[in-house]
Amino acid sequence: MPARPCRAVAKRTRSRARLAPPPPLRVEPPIEVRLARPTDTLHLARIAGLIREAHEAGAIIALRSEEYLADSIRERRAVVVMRAGELVGFATAHPWENGRFVSHSAMVVAPALRGRGLSRRMKLALVELSRLRWPDAAILSLTLSPQVEALNKSCGFEAVPYCDLTKDPEFWKGCEGCIHHAHLKRNQQQDCHCWAGLLLPPGRVRQKVIPRDAHGHPSAGSS
Ligand SMILES: CC(C)(COP(=O)(O)OP(=O)(O)OC[C@H]1O[C@@H](n2cnc3c(N)ncnc32)[C@H](O)[C@@H]1OP(=O)(O)O)[C@@H](O)C(=O)NCCC(=O)NCCS
Repeated sequence: MPARPCRAVAKRTRSRARLAPPPPLRVEPPIEVRLARPTDTLHLARIAGLIREAHEAGAIIALRSEEYLADSIRERRAVVVMRAGELVGFATAHPWENGRFVSHSAMVVAPALRGRGLSRRMKLALVELSRLRWPDAAILSLTLSPQVEALNKSCGFEAVPYCDLTKDPEFWKGCEGCIHHAHLKRNQQQDCHCWAGLLLPPGRVRQKVIPRDAHGHPSAGSS
């Protein structure tokens, strides 16, 4: 049986424990979600790095050139998340067909800060920005991420067939690096694996269009 410490030693140990300073409080640096400013081009390499890491980890997120990201920052149509001077999140809005549509893309949050509602805050900021800059635009989303789909639905996006989306070829070029691009091409851009959603301007109701293939027959994705 191990020897018990004598009373005096036990008392000293207890009083030392009482006197020990409390462990330092871990104060989390504040997190700010805001519109990007032109000076945020300083963080371009970091943004491209976050997107590349997510892509390499298996997320279906289009790789964007620093030039593409820089344009969105300079044109004040991007949102950033900052923590203690470090960029930890990014997303951008892009108008198509002279503002008939706006897409939100390149949404990424640093892995250590996921699941804290940051993409929701960015999404709400992007919707507000889109409404101010392109009030008549339908906001569109094309995503393979179940998180982003759930997020969009909770923000009021409605699932739509691909024929309701923009026809602008530049928009569809964004799909060229995707592993499913051959599938999209085979379906003449009328259907693919992504979830497609629209958030219409307040008061506008969607006119249902029946998607048709090259032969004029109703195609997959009709709703
Ligand atoms: C997708 C991504 C941006 C989400 O960012 P996030 O800050 O972790 O997301 P949030 O914490 O704001 O969650 C927003 C919503 O997403 C959904 N969501 C988030 N994490 C989820 C998970 N692990 N499983 C299911 N749904 C989830 C929920 O609907 C959540 O809504 P809630 O507030 O009701 O819980 C982030 O995971 C990421 O950067 N992924 C890699 C890049 C990527 O895939 N980008 C999307 C390209 S379209």
